[in-house]
Amino acid sequence: GLGAARFSTGLQRRKGRGPSRWPSVSSSARSGPGRRWLLSTPIFYVNGPPHIGHLYSALLADALHRLRGLQGPGPGRLATGTDEHGLKIQQAAAAAEAPPAELCAHVSGLFRDVFNQAGVSFTDFIRTTEPRHRRAVQHFWAALRDRGWLYKGFYEGWYCTSDECFLTEDQLTERPDAQGRSCKVSLESGHQVHWTKEENYMFKLSEFQEPLRKWLQGNRHVISPEPFYQVVLRWLEDDLPNLSVSRERSRLEWGIPVPEDSTQTIYVWVDALVNYLTVAGYPDAHHAWWPAAHHVVGKDILKFHAIYWPALLMAVGLEPPRQIYVHSHWTVHGQKMSKSLGNVVDPVACFKQYTVDGFRYFLLRQGVPERDCDYYDEKVINLVNSELADALGGLLNRCTAPSINPSGTYPPFSELCFPKGSDQENVEASGRALAEDYELVASVARLPLQVTDYFDQFQIYKALESIIACVRQTNGFFQRHAPWKLSRDNSAEKCWLDTILHITLECLRIYGILLQPVIPETADKLLSRLAVKPKERAFTDVAFLPRYHGKPSPFEGRRLGPNTGVLFHKLETTRRHLMETKEP
Ligand SMILES: *[C@@H]1O[C@H](CO)[C@@H](O)[C@H](O)[C@H]1NC(C)=O
Repeated sequence: GLGAARFSTGLQRRKGRGPSRWPSVSSSARSGPGRRWLLSTPIFYVNGPPHIGHLYSALLADALHRLRGLQGPGPGRLATGTDEHGLKIQQAAAAAEAPPAELCAHVSGLFRDVFNQAGVSFTDFIRTTEPRHRRAVQHFWAALRDRGWLYKGFYEGWYCTSDECFLTEDQLTERPDAQGRSCKVSLESGHQVHWTKEENYMFKLSEFQEPLRKWLQGNRHVISPEPFYQVVLRWLEDDLPNLSVSRERSRLEWGIPVPEDSTQTIYVWVDALVNYLTVAGYPDAHHAWWPAAHHVVGKDILKFHAIYWPALLMAVGLEPPRQIYVHSHWTVHGQKMSKSLGNVVDPVACFKQYTVDGFRYFLLRQGVPERDCDYYDEKVINLVNSELADALGGLLNRCTAPSINPSGTYPPFSELCFPKGSDQENVEASGRALAEDYELVASVARLPLQVTDYFDQFQIYKALESIIACVRQTNGFFQRHAPWKLSRDNSAEKCWLDTILHITLECLRIYGILLQPVIPETADKLLSRLAVKPKERAFTDVAFLPRYHGKPSPFEGRRLGPNTGVLFHKLETTRRHLMETKEP
């Protein structure tokens, strides 16, 4: 068709740049410092208050954003916000006898509060009911229309009001309703569907199958983790249907009207997706930020972000996002969270119970993007106590205790006690360090790169796993050499004692720096205790144990910070459950 011809003109224009339309992006360019980066969470639907699933999404994005800020001065933004239009909101407002705008403002405020409490470092908060967004969506619509990608057609099919989408026969199943009559429901959500016929604007999605395939094949890392990339490629093996992108205004009033056709409302998903452009300054000022877009999304909305959104962008002549990070969901005691089960976990109650950092740590340490994770109270308490309070806090406590470190400083490192160990025999002869100690030094030296690689691959839990493994290794080192048995009166023993403390403090300094994106408050406390200045906390110059490499250390001899308090208080085990349990 006409549209396709226009699209291939785009292909030719860019021919010189590479085999595919969208140039492949190298791993360092994806995340490296110095480049602009516009990271986003999904915008959250205001049909219910925030739960830990929403928080998890926001924390993943926050950790990526914080890490990025520590990597260098490249300008970066983190956008979040609320999705406020649609039939469900219209119905909920009608049921509550409140104007929809009031309901939206209230729930949107709850999301903002929770993210503020959680330390989510967002720079932008967008609400789809804002005038700037309405303008962006209507402009986007006009661009689709003017480029010939929309047509008016009768749409007939099974419509799911709860999910606000049409479903095909193979996405449906039968289930008895309250009266025992069999009715059709969505296979995925279980919500009822109704046969619906109406005149809608349609988007010629079917013409984007090839362009989408080319885009994905040319950018193998654009969707991570990798299994989700494969999922999207498989979706693209089947023909794409065209997409209904408006609803009759008589049925859906709570939405943005189609420009120049007041009988139709723009489909909520088109409305919602354009938020990423609104934040970037579309339609006047987005060029500085687009396409440096990196979206964090849950797997339930992958199709919208990896198929519909890139196709819509290509249709208006914009590039698809640079990166889509996908995560799975949280279950509670093995069950899906739902209002009807009464097992929705309230983030604010979790912050009270586990502290903000404790809960951030739990979600990011236990959440595996590729599969659903299960939440229960005991798991949080055990994990946080054993790793933050005991392993990390205990280690700090041990090497800063006045009995063992009476001067309260970063003591000197001695090459004699810990010679640079390539020649094992020499080492045995002169130094006191053992093979395991050299392994520790090697592991911690590798750690910063390992951690940033895992963040790049959206495997934040693995980054934390490797940090905590090193923390345990450092505790082993300390235990092995029992510095509390060494005497400060004997100069050889004192020299070794100081070296043990110096190495342990160096390890802690690295852990503190690397943990900043995940537990910012605790990391700050740790680094302040080690007297690491704010400008010494970037990922760019971590330089672990420079004295071992014969270089000067800015920390050697420095007085430790004054706050001698406990790094992380142990959480108390409690029988009180955080969920409102439903009466039988
Ligand atoms: C989608 O729309 C295009 C253009 O109008 C048309 O050629 C094609 O047959 C439609 N595809 C489907 C699957 O309906």
